[in-house]
Amino acid sequence: MVAPARPRKTKSKVSPASPQLPSFAPEGNSYLQRILNAKVYDVAVETALTPAKSLSKRLGNKVFFKREDEQPVFSFKLRGAYNKMAHLTAEQLAKGVICASAGNHAQGVALAAKKMGCRAVIVMPVTAPLVKVNAVKAMGGEVVLMGDSYSDAYAHALTIEKAEGLSFVHPFDDPDVIAGQGTVAMEILRQHQGPIDAVFVAIGGGGLISGVAAYIKAVRPEIKVIGVQTVDSDAMLQSVRAGKRVQLADVGLFADGTAVKLVGEETFRITKALVMRKVSSPTSLTAVPSANSPTSASCTRLPARTDCSMASESTVWTPITLISGRTALI
Ligand SMILES: Cc1ncc(COP(=O)(O)O)c(C=O)c1O
Repeated sequence: MVAPARPRKTKSKVSPASPQLPSFAPEGNSYLQRILNAKVYDVAVETALTPAKSLSKRLGNKVFFKREDEQPVFSFKLRGAYNKMAHLTAEQLAKGVICASAGNHAQGVALAAKKMGCRAVIVMPVTAPLVKVNAVKAMGGEVVLMGDSYSDAYAHALTIEKAEGLSFVHPFDDPDVIAGQGTVAMEILRQHQGPIDAVFVAIGGGGLISGVAAYIKAVRPEIKVIGVQTVDSDAMLQSVRAGKRVQLADVGLFADGTAVKLVGEETFRITKALVMRKVSSPTSLTAVPSANSPTSASCTRLPARTDCSMASESTVWTPITLISGRTALI
């Protein structure tokens, strides 16, 4: 387990001493403080932490799912989007917001904008699932379809942002978005007051795991935070190994929400510092980078008393993490 890093010791390109970036330590402007003050419950609900009975039996561990599929937009993404927008000025909100997303973040931004009564332009790749495009439109989002990938949509969104003076709501690489996602961990620790050995978090651009790790390492540093990616979308794993952000040429779309070619600068800084990468103890998890190593097999190496929590929506976790075995752990 990697202990919470002291900001001055990190070697990221983004200077942790920079006044704009929150520190990890529990002091003014820290992520802990931002998460505790995050504004998410105008739109988000506190989701259940549900025991996964048969899985727990199979693995000999107590496994829980954090049911973010219970959110009004079926994912945690509205937490970060709403918190970011709640920190914009009245003038910025009057002009409107813009984002690029293949679906889940788009719905979060659209719902947040509807709640705040502001304009939201949502740039989506033409490959985005129709059901998500329609959901965004139904919430009043102005959908612009552009390009085959998230990266194409992102580039186009930046040009509209400048031309129309809109505020960009990043899907992951923003301290307010990260703090909003961190409220998932705040709920988990409140909901499960006994010991927790590990929290597994799906990684795309790294916003969710950054918020979860920042909160957990500040409050219960003994809990392991373990990132999980599909092997064909493992930009964070490769970046952490290389010590710098690695851009993937291509990503698999099996899990469309986590198909990100380049992780964020700030999310990389946090993940590198706070997320457990490799554990040598035989009773703990071992990093499993291979396509043939199912995560469930790794879970069984945890001691039987272990309580694990899956901080993402169960619909995603079930196929990706526990059945398909096409996963890589960070
Ligand atoms: C269901 C789900 N899980 C995990 C993630 C990964 O989140 P992040 O990009 O913050 O790492 C996403 C991203 O959209 C998602 O939709």
